[in-house]
Amino acid sequence: MHQIKIMGGVPLKGEIAISGAKNAALPLMTAALLTDEPLILTNMPHLADITSMEALLDQHGVHLSNDLNQKTLTLTANTIHNTTAPYDIVRKMRASILVLGPLVARCGQAQVSLPGGCAIGVRPIDIHLSGLRDLGAEIDLLDGYIHAKAPKGLVGTTITMPIISVTATENLMMAACLAKGETRLINAAREPEIIDLATCLMAMGADIVGAGTDTIIIQGTKRLHGATHRVIPDRIETGTYAMAAAITKGSIHLTNTSLDLIPTASAQLQRAGITLTPTDQGFQVSTSGDDIHGVDVMTEPFPGFATDLQAQMMALMTICRGASLVTETIWENRFMHVPELCRMGANITVHGSSALVRGIDTLRGAPVMATDLRASVCLVLAGLAAVGETLINRVYHLDRGYERVEDKLRGCGARIERIAE
Ligand code: EPU
Repeated sequence: MHQIKIMGGVPLKGEIAISGAKNAALPLMTAALLTDEPLILTNMPHLADITSMEALLDQHGVHLSNDLNQKTLTLTANTIHNTTAPYDIVRKMRASILVLGPLVARCGQAQVSLPGGCAIGVRPIDIHLSGLRDLGAEIDLLDGYIHAKAPKGLVGTTITMPIISVTATENLMMAACLAKGETRLINAAREPEIIDLATCLMAMGADIVGAGTDTIIIQGTKRLHGATHRVIPDRIETGTYAMAAAITKGSIHLTNTSLDLIPTASAQLQRAGITLTPTDQGFQVSTSGDDIHGVDVMTEPFPGFATDLQAQMMALMTICRGASLVTETIWENRFMHVPELCRMGANITVHGSSALVRGIDTLRGAPVMATDLRASVCLVLAGLAAVGETLINRVYHLDRGYERVEDKLRGCGARIERIAE
C-alpha cells in the first residue's frame, strides 16, 4: 500500500498536459465488441480502470495491442468466445456494465455480474436493463448475474429513460447500432463522452443523429466496421488541475484541453475570482493573489456542474472569503471527503444533500483517508494548499482516474511524493 505525502503551501506554476478522458475511453473500448474489425483508439490514458477494462475484454476474446508510448490501443474482437463478465472484474470497476449492450447486440446473449453498490451511492442499473428489454432482450437476474438473451437480435423502439444516465445512454446507443430499425433514446445524457462515443460509432458505420441533445436517433445496421478514433480530453482532470492552480494561488497553462468542456465549472471559477484565459492549446488559469470568493454550486447532468468535480470545488471553497453552499444531486453518498477536510481545519456542516462551507484562512496538513477517486484528489488539492505535511492513505483510488498525478503536479513545483507505508 502506498501513501502520498505533500508539503503544502507552494503556488503551482507551469504547464500540465491533460490526458485522454477515462469516462470516454471506457465505453469506446467496449464499442470494439460491436465489430470483427480493429478499432484503433488514440490519446488513451494510462490508468488502472483502463487496465481493468482491458482484462475484461481480453477474457471475452478481444485481441488487444497497447502502444503506451504512442498512447494507442488497438482492439480486435474478431471472435468473441466468452460472453460472461465475471464478478471478480465487475466488482472492481462498475463501468464493466458497458459490455452488456454490445455483447447482447453482437452475440445475442450476455451474462454480466451485477455490479453491486459503491462508496458514492447505491448505483442501480434498472435503466440499462429496462432499455434492453424494450429493445427485445429477455433479462433474468440469477445468482448475482444479469442473464440477457436476444437470439433473434434486438429490434429498434422508442426508449424513454426516467432519469438521465450516462452509461445507460451509452449502453443503449451501442446496442441500438446493431438492432433492426430505428431506436429513439428520449431523455438521453448529453455529456461530451456521449458525443465522443457517437462520433466513434459513426466512424464505424453507425447512423446516429442527436448525440449531445436529449433525443438520440439511431438507425440500426447489420454490421459495423473498424475505425480510428481520438479520445477527447478529460474534462474532470481539466477542472481538477484548474482548481489545483486556484487553491494554491498559482498559475498553470492547461494544454490538450478546452474551456468548452467545463462550461459551468469555468463560470463558477470565474465568479470566485479565478482568471481563465483561452489559449491555442487550452487555457491559462491564474489568480491575482486576491481572495477567492465563496460561490454556490449544485451538481447536475451536463452541461450542469459535474458531480465528479464537486469534491475538488469543495476543497477550493474551504479557503474562500465568505461561504459556499455545495449541493450534490447525483450521488447520495458523495460527501465522504467532508470529515477528512474537517481534519485539516475546514469548517463544513452537512445538511442532507447540501454542505455549507464557511471559508477559513488556511488549511493545516494532517493524515487523511481517501475513500473514492474524486475524494482522493480533493484531499490532494487540500494538501497542496495546506500549511505543513499531509499524508493521504488509500491512494490506489487515485490511480484509477489520474494519470501520473504526482509527476504532473511536481512539474509545477508541488512538493508531493508517493511513499511505501
Ligand atoms: N441511475 C438509476 N438507474 C440506472 C442508472 C443510473 O437510478 O439504471 C441513477 C444513479 O443512481 C444516479 C444517476 O442516475 O443517481 C446518474 O447516474 P449515471 O448512470 O449517469 O452514472 P454512471 O453512468 O454510472 C457516470 C460516470 C461517473 C459519473 C456519473 C455522473 C462513467 C464510467 N462513470 O456514471 O463517474 O459520476 O456518470 O456524471 O462514465 C467518476 O469518474 O468518478 C465517476 C463516478
